[in-house]
Amino acid sequence: MPKKVTTATLRAYKQRNQKAVFVTAYDYPTATFAQRAGVDMILVGDSAAMTMMGLPNTLGVTMDEMIVFVKSVCRAAQHAFIVGDLPFLSYQPSDETAILNAGRFIAAGCDAVKCEGGRRVVNRVRAMVDAGICVMGHLGLTPQNLAQLGGYRVQGKSFAAVEQLTDDALALQEAGAFSILLEAMPSESAAYVRDCLEIPVYGIGAGPFVDGQLVISHDILGNFVGDIAPKFVKRYAQLGTEIERVFREYAEDVRGGAFPSPEHCYGDERALRPELENPVAPTVLAAKPPAAPPSASRPSFSSAGSIAHAHPRAEAKQ
Ligand code: KIV
Repeated sequence: MPKKVTTATLRAYKQRNQKAVFVTAYDYPTATFAQRAGVDMILVGDSAAMTMMGLPNTLGVTMDEMIVFVKSVCRAAQHAFIVGDLPFLSYQPSDETAILNAGRFIAAGCDAVKCEGGRRVVNRVRAMVDAGICVMGHLGLTPQNLAQLGGYRVQGKSFAAVEQLTDDALALQEAGAFSILLEAMPSESAAYVRDCLEIPVYGIGAGPFVDGQLVISHDILGNFVGDIAPKFVKRYAQLGTEIERVFREYAEDVRGGAFPSPEHCYGDERALRPELENPVAPTVLAAKPPAAPPSASRPSFSSAGSIAHAHPRAEAKQ
């Protein structure tokens, strides 16, 4: 088992110019596979609203819903550094709200939290850091204020905009943020911000001159349901198409009687034959359980000749 990734590991990566590999995950299997593949960092993003819940933007996911995603990921990933993404209105109202909600993520197993914004969230960042919590800042395209930004638009395109980003990033660093994430901006703009900071700077759609790359797992796996396809997305698979093919094939098999076939059915033909030939055999009657409601699954015969009403999964262990 590789060593746990910590903030010290991430600082060391930056010093030796090693890029951190950063993906989103929201569930146990995806986090397990990502960790087995050796990713360094996992973001349990509020993008779960869109990727997992089918909402049109990130604003509708609540703290309680995020906690379910966070717990599932933390259960899977003991090696990767896990960042919990504070959802809309979980930190903006007050320092106390920010500390309490960030604390819920840490208690659930996260190593750090992320929040969006620059100078305007500096007090919140300082409060969370003072409470002992690692905080990642998020600048550039910040989806929680999508309306103010006028939609999904590339940020940091003018020198003035890059100066503003740098000022925000320095304020976050000063407040104790351990790293910054830059989203959707020209490579040179991100490089400028990165070069002005001491802490690691990661990017999503921010070019190669940063300390690590974040992607949304659904984007690289090809199982996002929706039309948003940013320029920076590279697809490594088309899992959505593959999943649909499997369900279609299964439906055909069930409807056509090809599933289940004998190799997917329980039963030992030699042991069952006498009972099947003589359905009122005393061993069967003696073991007969109380009448099941009509909707209950059919009883199955164990090879010992008794009737088992076990749940199919429990029965598989016999
Ligand atoms: O929620 C998320 O996945 C994010 C990334 C898009 C940066 O915040």
